[in-house]
Amino acid sequence: MAGDPEQRGARLLVLGAGPAQLGLLEAARRHGLFVIAVDRDPSAPGFAHADRRAIVSTEDERGIERLARAERVDGVIAPGIDFPVAIAARVARGLGLPHPLDPATAVLATNKERQRERLAEAGVPQPRSRVLDDDAGRVELPCVVKAPDRQGQRGLALVREQAELQPAIAAAREASRSGHVLVEELVDGPEITVNAFWVGGEFHPLTVTDRLTAEPPAFGVALAHVWRASAEPVALARAAAEALGVADGPTYTQIRVGPEGPQVIEVAARLGGGHDAELCEAALGVDLNGLALSAALGEAIEPGRLRIRDGVGGACVRFLVAPEGELEGVRGVEEAEAVEGVGWVRLYRRPGHRFGPLRIGSDRAGAVLAVGTSRDEALAAAADAAARVRFDVVGAPVA
Ligand SMILES: Nc1ncnc2c1ncn2[C@@H]1O[C@H](COP(=O)(O)OP(=O)(O)OP(=O)(O)O)[C@@H](O)[C@H]1O
Ligand SMILES: [Mg+2]
Repeated sequence: MAGDPEQRGARLLVLGAGPAQLGLLEAARRHGLFVIAVDRDPSAPGFAHADRRAIVSTEDERGIERLARAERVDGVIAPGIDFPVAIAARVARGLGLPHPLDPATAVLATNKERQRERLAEAGVPQPRSRVLDDDAGRVELPCVVKAPDRQGQRGLALVREQAELQPAIAAAREASRSGHVLVEELVDGPEITVNAFWVGGEFHPLTVTDRLTAEPPAFGVALAHVWRASAEPVALARAAAEALGVADGPTYTQIRVGPEGPQVIEVAARLGGGHDAELCEAALGVDLNGLALSAALGEAIEPGRLRIRDGVGGACVRFLVAPEGELEGVRGVEEAEAVEGVGWVRLYRRPGHRFGPLRIGSDRAGAVLAVGTSRDEALAAAADAAARVRFDVVGAPVA
């Protein structure tokens, strides 16, 4: 089949081999690609699916460029995490490789400050925001404080009381690459994720999911993605990505439905990092990982690959959280995977890892994918499976 990566034995550089890249790495292998995976963590779980691994940070642009040249890759992709998306676009441009994003669009998609400016110019509804100077001045509470150039909830906080403001600003500044701190109006309401795929400027909305998040101090951390969502703000997701200039490849758009209607929290021009592509395949029968692989290799996308086959009534990814302490082992995974409707259980960490309290996404311990005849049935299957997975930890802090 023309446009099928399997026919090409193409060489692909994948930035990241952590939990957020697992699904794409598995799919790359399934599609017969030769995969070179990059991660600074030698124990990254995704390395198991790579043909070659490089212990290089996904933020080391020069190291990645050197590797791409040396390995004579046909494409570069950064699934699941923001910052390397811009690196992938620049490296692809430098090597004359096809790529779904041009470097300028990739910057708009990975820098929250630049993105807010662009969305404002385009009149896309979003929370009011401003960049703080050294003197914060008057800040209306509640608000959300964040580092504009980080992801995964690093440096992100919900501030409800005055006493929380200065520590939140200090933490965001510490996390921020540029030293800038962004303060935003809190959009209070349910959160929806729109997963979509673009082909030559044409928008194809795929799974729209509820993002169920943790409370502070783990503000914004996803605990589950649930399909179908309670609202479907796809027109807004489309307008937001168009404003940034995205015309090809996957987009992942976080939207909160507040009192003033749906507002864009953030657009990412990549696959979601919470197994969103696998959820899409389970829910709609669309191989979103495969589509992203094709986009990264500059392959033509046949329309049939985007056809939705609505086989199930509900589907979800539920994340697992372990108790604090050093991981000794995990029990009950087989039992959990045997629960009807459960597709898989993924574990993010190996024995020896020390779990702290849940604060940001990378503190999570794993995930369960489940389907059902309804959304509630999928959620119930995932809850049943999650309850069967036991993380044995030692040396938990004494309360
Ligand atoms: N202005 C806001 N109003 C309401 N909720 C917000 C706001 N900003 C962020 N959040 C919450 O925090 C989550 C993460 O926000 P954001 O995308 O800005 O940070 P991030 O570090 O890039 O996280 P992620 O990696 O999950 O995208 C959002 O999905 C949402 O739940
Ligand atoms: Mg984000």
